[in-house]
Amino acid sequence: MAKEERFEVRCTVTELDELSAGDRELVQRAGQAALGAYARYSHFRVGAALRLHSGEIVAGSNQENASFPAGICAERTALHAAMAAHPQGLVEAMAIVVPDAPQGRPVSPCGICRQALAEQESRQHGPVRLIMAAQNGPIHVLERAGDLLPWSFDASFLKS
Ligand code: THU
Repeated sequence: MAKEERFEVRCTVTELDELSAGDRELVQRAGQAALGAYARYSHFRVGAALRLHSGEIVAGSNQENASFPAGICAERTALHAAMAAHPQGLVEAMAIVVPDAPQGRPVSPCGICRQALAEQESRQHGPVRLIMAAQNGPIHVLERAGDLLPWSFDASFLKS
């Protein structure tokens, strides 16, 4: 008999003051990073800052290109920079900040970034916490980035 499968995404809606000092710093660093965005075409600046288990923070911003698909999101800029510098690195949390978001609505990562974050969780055998914020307004916290990509394509499909 057919059965239904459900996937649940749990998100905590909170505010800056409620975050730990470490997470507040991450949000602040992501906001700073957004100022370095090259968003010539979309004018939509995004900053991301992640903290490795070592405590090191690595930040990135979106970098666009006249050939649109050549551009890259803030999340992957930060993630790939961190992992290129620290191949054994464990990403504890990533803050994503959109300083110019209308109505202070936090952004959530695009599909490609979800795939990249899910791969990181598989690589490090542990969750990457996501903290999504705009300049003002609510902050969304997700305990596992991979929850944003249920039924994803992963390494298990490539094994014979
Ligand atoms: N963008 C990000 O950097 N992160 C997201 O989570 C959403 C979208 C960038 C890509 C592009 O430079 C611009 O925002 C508009 O899509």
